[in-house]
Amino acid sequence: MKKLTAALIAAGAAGALLLSGCSSSDRGESSGGSSGSATEASGFAADATIGVALPQKTSENWVLAEQLFNDGLKEAGFNPIVQFANSGVTEQQNQIQAMTEQGASVIVVGAIDGSQLGSQLEDAEENGAHVIAYDRLVKNTDAVDMYVAFDNYQVGVLQGQSLLEGLAARKGDGPYNIELIAGSPDDANSTPFFEGAMSVLQPKIDDGTLVVVSGQTSFEQVATQGWKAENAQKRMDTILAGSYADTELDGILSPNDTLGRAALTSVAQAGKDTPVVTGQDSEVESVKSIMAGEQYSTIYKDTRELVAQTIKEIQLLQKGEDPEINDTDSYDNGVKVVPSYLLTPVIVTKENAAEVYANDSTLAPLTK
Ligand code: BGC
Repeated sequence: MKKLTAALIAAGAAGALLLSGCSSSDRGESSGGSSGSATEASGFAADATIGVALPQKTSENWVLAEQLFNDGLKEAGFNPIVQFANSGVTEQQNQIQAMTEQGASVIVVGAIDGSQLGSQLEDAEENGAHVIAYDRLVKNTDAVDMYVAFDNYQVGVLQGQSLLEGLAARKGDGPYNIELIAGSPDDANSTPFFEGAMSVLQPKIDDGTLVVVSGQTSFEQVATQGWKAENAQKRMDTILAGSYADTELDGILSPNDTLGRAALTSVAQAGKDTPVVTGQDSEVESVKSIMAGEQYSTIYKDTRELVAQTIKEIQLLQKGEDPEINDTDSYDNGVKVVPSYLLTPVIVTKENAAEVYANDSTLAPLTK
């Protein structure tokens, strides 16, 4: 009864806010940390509908997120609508529109294409929803209140450093022949991953320690449409046939585990020695490969932590409080710097895997 009364009061407050014509920019400002009056007034029902728009199942972390959001939001008393958009951008746009029509108080978005959701998210905000970009930034729109993610640029830095460390450990003295792989060009994360890595690798390319034998070093040349393993594998097959007939390939910068394993398959099929290959996501197959001495490294971004932080932000918004923000200058979406809560990614190799995964019941057994 108490809960119901609180919910009705909150619903009334949200309605009053809508009637008073609070614009999305009012809410954007207040969630950015400035004066709290608009935010305080914008709490919503404790059993509100929360939409979670996930992209395609391009890696295990997204599949895990689906379940964690469903369970966690229900446990917090909300009514979750969690959807993948397996057939692409249009499906995701339609899903967000439908979440708005169903009165979602918050829409959490893991965008397939961060630049294609502006008008749907603007509609959502006009209808009183808060918008949280989850894992991937939403670009070129004001209609995003905050961003919750692991620091993507730092992921790239760690991958670059680990490629250099792995080369020194496994391949002796340089110079080293390497190739570069980047993620899907429509995913807003792919550029910070690549730029972070290149901030470490470019000076070593310039001084001759690293040689990219194919000559393909620009993001456009090395990107992998749709994060698809077969696209990365095909490109690597072509490069191996064209540039490595009489040369060893020492290392491959891979932005995630799925593409890293695709690259390893390509190299194995070409009958070459195993290069040092980076990754990301701590996927089961890659952790096994690391423990077997094949893939060199991965990144641990604990999805449980990321979803828990997102749900915490939703609970703060529900109570009309300011969200938790720990970064206000790193993630510019083209229209504004989006206030962010960034978590810290961890690099994992065979050496520290047992320690890093100690509290992860799926991964810890693989390190024994
Ligand atoms: C995520 C990565 C993931 C990739 C492909 C990125 O946006 O941050 O963890 O590997 O999408 O699913």
